[in-house]
Order: sequence, then structure tokens, then C-alpha cells
Amino acid sequence: MKGSSTLVLLCVVTVATITKTTTGIDIHGGLFIFGDSLLDVGTNNHFDDSTARADHPHYGIDYPDSVSTGRFSNGLNSADLLASYMNGYDFSPPPFLTLVQNPDTFLLQIIRGANFASGGSGILRDTGREKFIRVVPLCEQIQQFATVRGNMSQVLGNGTAELFIGMSHYIISVGSNDFFEKQNSLFRNETQPQQLIANLTASYAIHLQNLYDLGARKFGIIGVPPLGCCPMERYINYQMGGNGSCVEAMNELAQVFHASIESLLQNFSSINQGVVYSLGNTYNIIMDFIDNRRASESGPNVLGFQVVETACCGNGTFNAETRCESGSKLCRNRNHYIFWDEFHPTEAAARHAALTLAYADGQEFVTPMNFSSLAKA
Ligand SMILES: *[C@@H]1O[C@H](CO)[C@@H](O)[C@H](O)[C@H]1NC(C)=O
Ligand SMILES: *[C@@H]1O[C@H](CO)[C@@H](O)[C@H](O)[C@H]1NC(C)=O
Ligand SMILES: *[C@@H]1O[C@H](CO)[C@@H](O)[C@H](O)[C@H]1NC(C)=O
Ligand SMILES: *[C@@H]1O[C@H](CO)[C@@H](O)[C@H](O)[C@H]1NC(C)=O
Ligand SMILES: *[C@@H]1O[C@H](CO)[C@@H](O)[C@H](O)[C@H]1NC(C)=O
Ligand SMILES: *[C@@H]1O[C@H](CO)[C@@H](O)[C@H](O)[C@H]1NC(C)=O
Ligand SMILES: *[C@@H]1O[C@H](CO)[C@@H](O)[C@H](O)[C@H]1NC(C)=O
Ligand SMILES: *[C@@H]1O[C@H](CO)[C@@H](O)[C@H](O)[C@H]1NC(C)=O
Repeated sequence: MKGSSTLVLLCVVTVATITKTTTGIDIHGGLFIFGDSLLDVGTNNHFDDSTARADHPHYGIDYPDSVSTGRFSNGLNSADLLASYMNGYDFSPPPFLTLVQNPDTFLLQIIRGANFASGGSGILRDTGREKFIRVVPLCEQIQQFATVRGNMSQVLGNGTAELFIGMSHYIISVGSNDFFEKQNSLFRNETQPQQLIANLTASYAIHLQNLYDLGARKFGIIGVPPLGCCPMERYINYQMGGNGSCVEAMNELAQVFHASIESLLQNFSSINQGVVYSLGNTYNIIMDFIDNRRASESGPNVLGFQVVETACCGNGTFNAETRCESGSKLCRNRNHYIFWDEFHPTEAAARHAALTLAYADGQEFVTPMNFSSLAKA
């Protein structure tokens, strides 16, 4: 069984590679996904002790058969949607931790890619550990990818593995949890914002370099959203005597961090030969949704969200006082909401965001090229 799937893998990849090199036909490599809960498709389900899990109702209520898969969404998430727009897949590749449970099919599956993303994780190794007990930090996700790289080299030989890895796409969404975790410390002036941003940027640089050294070349980087505008932060603003507006200090951090990552990527791509990248400005994308809030239901073809402050699933102020659970309040028209729970977007918001990343013109939402251009690069 293992022998035959190895052989099939060898054929598929060899044919793909030869076709690519001799005819120039556009062959996709695999899709490898890293980061946090925006992209997690069930990694954390593998940890009984993790508290960052979404494998219970109402999560997944709009997923096929209303299954709670571990996606932090009512339906599909950004990993699925980008996999669709960039690679033509119906869904994200499965979690790496699910694939390794089936050694017989592992090598066959892995040529489509794998999803390493883990809800609650961050750029720093320790982010999420205390709050969620078990998450897979980005450095460990990259170690897992190194294992995959080793497996491929063993089966295909180093040269072919290298070609395949170099053709593949790498999507990363990370950083939000590092900021949320440091929020109190920042507010108490125990952490200096510019130091935190310098540290996160330097750490991010190490992660990217590690991926490059393993052979990755095509990077789709998803920036951090306006952190201060998620329902949880509006609730925090309200608790501190505000009127429930966005927490400006968090939004400012998000913007400064985005600029820092933009500079990092310019340096990274100029130093390392063959790097191509897209950087999604999630801050601008989500702010655009919030600023262009639709006042009322004015027809099925009108773009825009009516509810930009309150989560669809939860309870209390902005539905952010309790987590989304089976007993929680649930909004009726999920497509009218930006936020599904206190932190995460609805499928509808993730879809609009992914469409923007994939196809936007100009430099407002994605630089220096959109994700569909990256896929073809
Ligand atoms: C992949 O490599 C790891 C580490 O070398 C090994 O333990 C594992 O069995 C390999 N998996 C497959 C499917 O070959
Ligand atoms: C794989 O090949 C590349 C160059 O083609 C080389 O830099 C790298 O060291 C090789 N890796 C292994 C494990 O042999
Ligand atoms: C915060 O810390 C900085 C540097 O340590 C200091 O200059 C500043 O006065 C502090 N601000 C407050 C409000 O304590
Ligand atoms: C970032 O800060 C952490 C914790 O203070 C430290 O362990 C790490 O070395 C720093 N990383 C970089 C790249 O500066
Ligand atoms: C809420 O407070 C912010 C400043 O904290 C202010 O700019 C905004 O206009 C207020 N919004 C409303 C609806 O009162
Ligand atoms: C990128 O390189 C420039 C010029 O060397 C440097 O000033 C800047 O700090 C670097 N940016 C990052 C994020 O490392
Ligand atoms: C939601 O909150 C209200 C009042 O705060 C409470 O009466 C109700 O039981 C809560 N519902 C759930 C599902 O937690
Ligand atoms: C994506 O970017 C490319 C290159 O910048 C541009 O030509 C194209 O119009 C953009 N939009 C789409 C839908 O590809």
C-alpha cells in the first residue's frame, strides 16, 4: 500500500515537473498554509487539552452538512477560499496532523499541500500557550513542514522535491494573537510598542528565512486586521467606559506592524533570490467593510455588510461577552455580519476579503501584486 502510493506520487510529480519544464504549461505546486485561527481547518482538534477549538456548534452551521470541523467560522474560512481562488481546490488541504494519521495516503495527499495553521498561535513560540494550553506555534509548524520536505526528498530525490517545493504556494496569517496577548502589558506600559513590533518583525524574518531555506519561494502573506475593531475589543472599550468604538491603540499597532512587515518583505525578497510575494493589507480590507457599512437591505446585489460591530454568535454586549457555543445567541442572516464570533469573520466576510486579495487592482489592498498574480508568477 505504502509502496504503491509512493509510486503514484513519483509519477504524478515527475509528470507535472517534466510537463512544466518542457512545455511551460502552468502546473500548480501544492498549497502549504501556516498561521493562526483565520486559517486553521482542524489542527487543534488533535489536542484534547487545547481550549482554542471550534469543533462544536454553532461553528460550522453553514458548512456542508453543518459539520463543526474546527474552522473558526460559520462555514468556509479564508484558507478554503484562497485555496479555491489560487489553486482551484474546493477546500483547504487538510490539517497536517490529520494527514500523518494515515501513513498509507500521506504521500499522495501531501502533493496537494497541507494546512499547519493552529488557532491561538502566534509569531512567538510562547504565544497562546498559557491561555489555550496547547497550540502549535509557527516555529513548530515550520518544523512539521521540514519533515514533509524530508519525506518528499526521500521519495522523489532532492532535486525533484526542490522543484516541487519551489513551485508551491505558501500562505501565512499570523501576528494578531501576539498583540492580543500583550495587550494588558502594553496598556500598563510594561511593554513598549516599538520594541514589541521590532521583536515580532525580527522573529517573522527568521520564520520566513527558515521556509526559504527549505525551498519555499512564493509567499502569500496576510497582514493583521484592524485588531481594535473586533467585537471583543469593542466590548473592552465599553467596559473601560467608552461607547464601544474601536480600540484605537490596537488599530495603530496593527498599522505600524503592517508597515514593518512590508519593509521586511522588501528586504527579504531583495536578499533571497527567487522570492515572489503578495502582502495582503487586511487592515484596509476590513476597514473598508466597516466604513462602507450598508445602512439597510437594499437588494441582493448590493455589496456591503449591515452589522459591523456585533458578532453573529455569542451573548452579551456586542455578543462578545461569552464565546460562541451551542446555547449562544445566533443571528439569522449570517451574510449581513462581518464578525461570526468575538474575533473571527463570517464566511461572507472571509469570502469578500479573499476575493479582494486574489483579484484586487492597485496597491490599496494587496502589494506588490494580488494573490492570483502570485499564483501565476
Ligand atoms: C516522514 O519523515 C519522518 C521523519 O523522518 C518519518 O518519521 C515519517 O515516517 C515519514 N513519513 C512518511 C509517510 O514517509
Ligand atoms: C538539495 O539540493 C540543494 C541544491 O540543489 C542543496 O543546496 C541542498 O543542500 C540539498 N539538500 C540535501 C539534503 O541534500
Ligand atoms: C511609559 O514608559 C516610557 C518608557 O519606559 C516612559 O517614557 C513613559 O513616561 C511611560 N508612560 C506612562 C504613562 O507611564
Ligand atoms: C523576542 O522576544 C523574546 C522574548 O522576550 C525573545 O526570547 C526573543 O529572542 C526575541 N526575538 C528576537 C528575534 O529578537
Ligand atoms: C465614541 O467615542 C469616540 C471617541 O472615544 C468618538 O470619536 C465617537 O464619535 C463616539 N461615537 C459615538 C457614536 O458617540
Ligand atoms: C530593511 O532594510 C533597510 C535598509 O537596510 C533597513 O533600514 C530596514 O530597517 C529593514 N527593514 C526591516 C523590517 O528589517
Ligand atoms: C445571554 O445573556 C442573557 C442576559 O445577559 C441571559 O439571560 C441569557 O441566559 C444568556 N444566554 C446564553 C445562551 O448564555
Ligand atoms: C491582479 O494583478 C495583476 C498584476 O498587477 C493585474 O494585471 C490584474 O489586473 C489584477 N487583477 C486581476 C483580477 O488579476
